[in-house]
Amino acid sequence: MPLNRPSDITEGLSQRPARISPKYFYDQRGSQLFEAITRLPEYYPTRTETALMQRHAADMARHLGAVRTVIELGAGSCEKARALCAWVRPACFVGVDISVDFLQEAVLRLRADMPGLDARAVGGDMTQGVVLPSDIPRAGRLVFYPGSSIGNFDPTQALELLRHMRALVDGDGGLLIGIDLPKDVAVLEAAYDDAAGVTAAFNRNVLTHLNRLIGSDFVEDQWGHRAFFNQQASRIEMHLEALAPICVRWPGGERRFAMGERIHTENSYKYPLAVFTDMLAQAGFSHAQAWTDERGWFAVVHARP
Ligand SMILES: C[S@@+](CC[C@H](N)C(=O)[O-])C[C@H]1O[C@@H](n2cnc3c(N)ncnc32)[C@H](O)[C@@H]1O
Repeated sequence: MPLNRPSDITEGLSQRPARISPKYFYDQRGSQLFEAITRLPEYYPTRTETALMQRHAADMARHLGAVRTVIELGAGSCEKARALCAWVRPACFVGVDISVDFLQEAVLRLRADMPGLDARAVGGDMTQGVVLPSDIPRAGRLVFYPGSSIGNFDPTQALELLRHMRALVDGDGGLLIGIDLPKDVAVLEAAYDDAAGVTAAFNRNVLTHLNRLIGSDFVEDQWGHRAFFNQQASRIEMHLEALAPICVRWPGGERRFAMGERIHTENSYKYPLAVFTDMLAQAGFSHAQAWTDERGWFAVVHARP
């Protein structure tokens, strides 16, 4: 039986409808599956954001000014930071991620390829507060939060997280953040339900991760992947749907699911740019500059305190 049983998991499984936080997608296999998703033809966000950053690199560098430390939240493979650091040339990079082993491997690769860069890995759940190494100076920090990962939080939590990012930087610092914008529903839904079934595998993998974390007995094959756009809330929702009546047990508890009953595993909010810049202002970032692609699908926003 695992020693640490995060109580939020069993609480979430007991709710109606049941929920699992998307942070539990990311064990080693979940991180690898996410990387595979970024290469899918349907998954436009990564290639759109990467192209935007390449095309506007010079202009972005001018806006960012001198950056001493890039702090990437949810850094994953650190591939976007690698590109950013090549043109911003900070002295230090700090990657923060809940998927610690995957992050450490990525930071080792970064160190090998960019010997002048002091690259660090900080494992942890950023929603519990980001604790940086004590020798990272406050001056010249840029918080980098690409991939529209802010969309995985509901608007209240997202505002709280933006305020936390604001607290990580001084007046000379900034935030560079990727935002997925509202668009055609068919494009959105295909991005979260690809033909090859990689997103389905990513969604189901959370169950195997939970089995390790809380000692539950989920069987992935008993669950179907469901992804759709909720127009009213302006968000993609991902769920796992019981394909038969299922009883899931873990030490000290159980949850019965009727056939067709769902577990809500992820939201991905799509904010119009004006709504998002208003959130930035509420979080204490007052000057924002945005770059968008020609289709208006994605935005990279630079905000200053
Ligand atoms: C959607 S991926 C984005 C990865 C990369 N930044 C990109 O843009 O391609 C989200 C990343 O955030 C990490 N993550 C998710 N929830 C987290 C949390 N609560 N604390 C720290 N990292 C988290 C995941 O492990 C994953 O690497």
